[in-house]
Amino acid sequence: MENPNWDALIKQCMNCTGCKLAETRNNVVVGTGNPQSEIMFIGEGPGEQEDLKGEPFVGRAGQLLDKMLAAVGLSRKHNIYIANIVKCRPPNNRDPLPEEQDACIPWLREQVSLIRPKIIVCLGRVAAHRIISPDFKVTLQHGEFINKGGILMMGTFHPAAILRNPNQKPAAFADFLALRDKIEEICKHTQLIY
Ligand code: URA
Ligand code: SF4
Repeated sequence: MENPNWDALIKQCMNCTGCKLAETRNNVVVGTGNPQSEIMFIGEGPGEQEDLKGEPFVGRAGQLLDKMLAAVGLSRKHNIYIANIVKCRPPNNRDPLPEEQDACIPWLREQVSLIRPKIIVCLGRVAAHRIISPDFKVTLQHGEFINKGGILMMGTFHPAAILRNPNQKPAAFADFLALRDKIEEICKHTQLIY
């Protein structure tokens, strides 16, 4: 479990001043979960609660995410890892700027190369554009698995979008069920917990 590379990554990331977001943050939100897991979830960037607590997806959207995860046997404590495209909160929750994403993405790449996930789930447009394809359309392509360099990538609705637009819930839930099927098909040591 001890991994000096992992500890160094966390330490360095927590001290990062690579873009302007460093000036307004309270905490760097590096990520959370089990770094040995086979599944990663990627959001856009910390919101207010995340910035205050230093942990991703702990606000209202995060509570919905935790419920959807639990419904398919997943939990941030045990069998997944959650991170964001940018690790510091954009003021007023605006979208992270392209130059902020460019400055921050090396941290995420390092996380991915240490975790070596089999599946990456992108939560919402910003993550899907950056990780899957710049013309990814969440409403049309959500739930599809796309192989990129040996990792299966899927884009789905951002939980904050589902809160604004609850009629997306059934489609989002279907994506989580498809994710569970894919985990059962290709993951080697992931234990689903109910
Ligand atoms: N929204 C995100 O995209 N990431 C978080 O960590 C919280 C809310
Ligand atoms: Fe560094 Fe990323 Fe925070 Fe910018 S958002 S300061 S690149 S950790």
